[in-house]
Amino acid sequence: MTTQTKILGTGICLPEKVMTNFDLEKVVDTNDEWIYERTGIKARRICSTEGGEWPTDLAEKAAWRALEAAALTPDDIDMIIFASVTPDVKLPNSASILQQKLKITNQCAAMDIAVACSGFVYGANMADSFIKTGMAKKVLVVGSEMLSREIDWSDRTICILFGDGCGCAIFGAAEEGETSEVLATHLGTDGSGAEFFDQPIGGAVTPLTAEHIAAGEHFMRMKGREMFKVATRTLAENARIVLKKAGLSLEDVDWVVPHQANIRIIETTARLIGVPMEKVIVNIENYGNTSAATVPIAFHEAVMDGRIKRGDIVLFDAFGAGLTFGATLLRY
Ligand code: ACO
Repeated sequence: MTTQTKILGTGICLPEKVMTNFDLEKVVDTNDEWIYERTGIKARRICSTEGGEWPTDLAEKAAWRALEAAALTPDDIDMIIFASVTPDVKLPNSASILQQKLKITNQCAAMDIAVACSGFVYGANMADSFIKTGMAKKVLVVGSEMLSREIDWSDRTICILFGDGCGCAIFGAAEEGETSEVLATHLGTDGSGAEFFDQPIGGAVTPLTAEHIAAGEHFMRMKGREMFKVATRTLAENARIVLKKAGLSLEDVDWVVPHQANIRIIETTARLIGVPMEKVIVNIENYGNTSAATVPIAFHEAVMDGRIKRGDIVLFDAFGAGLTFGATLLRY
């Protein structure tokens, strides 16, 4: 019998601090109406800078919830894939820090992937491959971000969009007789769009200096309009590719869980692929764009409130800086 991959449990953790659009009005020249109309965002969560809410702290709490949901203990995990572009520190990697926080003693593989907003979908598809090839049995895939540290809070074109948060899922093999499976996966990258969303200062090429910080040059930069266009095209293409691979049509899909970057991107994509918004999970209003965390947070919430049920066919669909992109089609 071939191994099928199942999501065994999910968990999320969001920082306590809520920043509404009205709070943002006091920070930059903007207003609730503009933000909500253009993005669908009402509020976002912001990590404390006092400690206790670093990306691996959020991940630890989310992972405990996922372990509980899956009825597993930390040492059952034999691989951690941590997706983030805002790690606690440059070295060691976040997955190793998380392994220690969870007190995993089995020396499991622990790796970070930095593919921005596609991070969780990349991790999910990698987990599927590792499970199907027998290289791992229980893979913890995390998307955890603290974007509030990396954006320019004086730039109204960018600071309104992002928030902090974490979502995770544990992937393992389905038992005989269970219907859960990953039906099709797709990953890709178009490096020609790298300049649409980048953060060039602070790496090997241009190490961070006091001058960069004083000039505010070290933050993430985004070309919003270019991202918008490429995002809708990419998300629609992702969906078509995995459906074709699985030999299914959109009518077979019960739920689409897209990356939450902008409600207009989500609505345009739904229109392009011809899926009604009733089938699309949207929570951008509450959290904004949390990069690698949007898909697992939205998925977890929809599972918890009973919309997504075991047996439903679910499509994860994401794109991010790079430009990276990917989709997972699964029977939950
Ligand atoms: N509040 C008030 N006015 C604003 C704000 C703001 N926060 N930001 C910009 N404006 C003004 C502009 O200055 C401009 O004014 P002008 O016409 O007088 O020059 C006007 O609003 C329109 O600005 P645009 O940039 O044309 O607004 P647009 O409709 O394109 O919306 C937005 C901007 C929301 C950023 C949109 O382009 C977008 O969502 N792009 C995609 C962003 C995205 O999803 N990125 C993905 C991130 S990467 C990832 O998730 C992987």
